[in-house]
Parts: sequence; C-alpha cells; structure tokens
Amino acid sequence: MSDAAGSVVIAEKVYREYAAQGDAEEVKALRNVSFRIPKGGRVAIKGESGSGKSTLLNLLGGLDLPSRGSIVVNGQDLTNLSERELARFRATTVGFVFQAFNLVPTLTARENVELPMEAVNTGAAEAKDRALALLEAVGMEERAAHRPNRMSGGEQQRVAIARALANRPALVLADEPTGNLDTKSRRAVMRLLTEVNEKEGTTLVVVTHNSYTAGYCDTTLRIHRGRIIGQVTNRRTSETTPDPEEEDDAAADAADAEEESTGSGRDERAPTSKGPGTGRKPTAGARKTDDDDDDDDDS
Ligand SMILES: Nc1ncnc2c1ncn2[C@@H]1O[C@H](COP(=O)(O)OP(=O)(O)OP(=O)(O)O)[C@@H](O)[C@H]1O
Ligand SMILES: [Mg+2]
Repeated sequence: MSDAAGSVVIAEKVYREYAAQGDAEEVKALRNVSFRIPKGGRVAIKGESGSGKSTLLNLLGGLDLPSRGSIVVNGQDLTNLSERELARFRATTVGFVFQAFNLVPTLTARENVELPMEAVNTGAAEAKDRALALLEAVGMEERAAHRPNRMSGGEQQRVAIARALANRPALVLADEPTGNLDTKSRRAVMRLLTEVNEKEGTTLVVVTHNSYTAGYCDTTLRIHRGRIIGQVTNRRTSETTPDPEEEDDAAADAADAEEESTGSGRDERAPTSKGPGTGRKPTAGARKTDDDDDDDDDS
C-alpha cells in the first residue's frame, strides 16, 4: 500500500541525533529532512563526507530509527513497527548495498547472494539459479565460487549489488554502489539497477559522488550538514549520453578485442596484470580512482 500520490517513500521532518559520548559532542546528523519518492522513482543523494547520506539511507532501510519525525516506506510507518516487523520489512521490502559491502567472509559469492533468499524460504534450486543470473548480470559469474577475501573491492561491490536484488525488493538503497568501479563496471551496474527499476518498478535511491551515476536518476537530492539544500531534475541523461570518463577505458577495450581475436595474452604490452572479471583496465595506473572522491564535478 502506498499513499494517494503513490509515494513509496515519505520522509517527514526527520531528525537524527547521535547522543554525546564521553568527550564526543552530540551530532545532529539529520535535521528536518522531508521528501517523497514516487514508486519507480530514481533518486541520487549527493553531499560531502559526513553530511548524513548513510544515516538517511539507514533510516529508509529500517536499520535505524529517527530521533524525531516519520518515515513511511511502502505504506509502513517504520517508527511504529516492532523489531520483528522491522526485520521482516528489511528482508522483504529493501535491498541494501552497503558502503562497506558487508559480505559474509566465510561464504562464496554465490552463497552470499543466496543468503537473503533463504531468509524468505526460497527453494535452494531457485535461489541458486537466481544467484547465478544476478552474478552474471554484474559480470561476476566466473567468481561465483570465490569468497570475498579473494575478490577486489569492486568485485565485492558487484556481489553486494547482486545480493541486494535477490528478493526483488520494492526499494533498493545503494550507498556508493559505483564508488570502487571503473567506467565499464559502473555502466554495467547502473544499467542493471535501472533495468530492474524499469522492469519491476523498483524504486531506487543511490548515494553517489559521481555525476555520471547520478545522471541515471531523475532527481538529485543535495544534502549538506544534515539538511536537504537542493533538489535537481536530471532527466536520466546518462542513459543516452556516453560517460565522459569512458574514453579512458578505450585502450582496455581495444586490448580486450585484440586478445579475443588473436587468443593471445597481453603481458608484453601491459606489464601490470589485468584484474579478473569484466571491465578491468590493463594498467594499474589507468585504473579508476577518481570517481569515489568528493569531486562533485557538476557543481
Ligand atoms: N554511530 C554514530 N555515532 C555518532 N556519530 C555518528 C554515527 N554515525 C555517523 N555519525 C556522524 O553523523 C554524521 C553523518 O554521518 P554519515 O555516515 O551519515 O555521513 P555520510 O554523508 O554518509 O559520509 P560519507 O560520504 O563519508 O560516507 C557525521 O558527522 C558522522 O560523524
Ligand atoms: Mg556514508
């Protein structure tokens, strides 16, 4: 159930204060935050480090409760739910991509993706098929049997995205889902998230510092010191415009094509090894490091 206007998320006058502890003063992480997101909406949240983005996402995902104000998701007022109801809400309604991935280290990529499906009693065969399909969609099918400690940060991130989609959640909350990715993987991840958004009507909230990632969304909320200070319409420009940083990856694509056509390795040409999985650049120096910083380039 959602409200008359069809909003999947309604945040009203939300405050979150973290109490003072010892010498640490009270932190007002969110102040008077109100907004609505319609079903199927795609919202990017931008703001400097410490501005309250993860705090807000945690509240929308029922991982934390506001100090004051209300948050209604899919017709459920999260401040009125019991612990048990909140746990159910998190398992069935929300797909969370954490800033720190939070994969289970003892499980393989496939088992990590299957885990949320176990919580809602999906049959083992169906869970396995879906996990493998999702891993394929994020370019991680070859790493299905690997544990997180044998994956790069970007690979763990892609597994975390597959896991978030496992139960076909109504709301996907992604905290910097492209922060560790090169342009090719970034495009693959955003295409997957937006495809799910289009096909299944999933509502998408993405915290990002990257303007191109934000350009897949229809709205950008700007947050500064715990307040929303701006709301911009994007018109999903990144769906039709090439990523300006993608040119950097042209050499990697050319090397991939050559390897495919000759069946040869690339070691003589690229002294630093190509990472496993898809979309990696051949040289460590060319590897993307600049898309997860505070480099808002549209301001
Ligand atoms: N558990 C906590 N206890 C006390 N203060 C906290 C806690 N979690 C976050 N904060 C503070 O709340 C503010 C908002 O933190 P938050 O993690 O939401 O920022 P953010 O916008 O996600 O930053 P980043 O871009 O660095 O991830 C910060 O000042 C932070 O220090
Ligand atoms: Mg954060």
